[in-house]
Amino acid sequence: MNFAFFFSKQLRHPRGWLGTKLASVMNRENAGINRLTLAEMQIEAGHHVMEIGFGGAALLEQIVTCAAQGAVAGVEMSETLLKKARLNPSLRFAILRAGTIESLPFADASFDRVCTVNTIYFWSDQTQAMREVLRVLKPGGRFTIGFHTEADLRKTGVSESVFRFHDAEAVESLFSAHGFVSISRTNGRNAGREFICISGHRNPTIP
Ligand SMILES: C[S@@+](CC[C@H](N)C(=O)[O-])C[C@H]1O[C@@H](n2cnc3c(N)ncnc32)[C@H](O)[C@@H]1O
Repeated sequence: MNFAFFFSKQLRHPRGWLGTKLASVMNRENAGINRLTLAEMQIEAGHHVMEIGFGGAALLEQIVTCAAQGAVAGVEMSETLLKKARLNPSLRFAILRAGTIESLPFADASFDRVCTVNTIYFWSDQTQAMREVLRVLKPGGRFTIGFHTEADLRKTGVSESVFRFHDAEAVESLFSAHGFVSISRTNGRNAGREFICISGHRNPTIP
């Protein structure tokens, strides 16, 4: 197994001691994309908000601050990172659950805002993922996906047999194919990294 492949597999599913160390690296490296995603989510007082694949939980901590009078949930498939988040005092009021975007452990129409950052490369089933997010969003609720561009990821040397690269048009098509409306795109750049956020709303007129 070469280093790029091993490292990429850890990014897809952080495990053990190295997984814990990677959490801090991700929090630092992804500060820019997390900031843009938080702005694009447009969280309002009282909102119920979920982050899927929160990793080192830097964004989840900021969401907790923004959604002060609402409710915050985080879903993570890595037992290592879930355990770490459960020990984090800033997240003591957040609902933290094991799961994947393809199988979300929440009831229908639970959330006003859902986001996921740097996970789209690893989804096993895009249709099932989008359907699950639609299911848990309230009508009119907003979904934001943050991801790094193909050019950016190529510079980092991650393995293409683990990461699936995406362009903005393909992600926008994913939103429209699943009935999301008011789809928007914002490009960002921070500390030499290039990223994109795409957002869309669950159609408010369809219950
Ligand atoms: C590269 S890390 C990104 C973590 C964090 N969102 C960030 O940007 O710093 C990818 C995360 O996605 C999670 N993940 C991988 N596949 C997933 C899936 N199918 N559904 C939800 N989360 C997934 C992993 O457990 C990991 O924490």
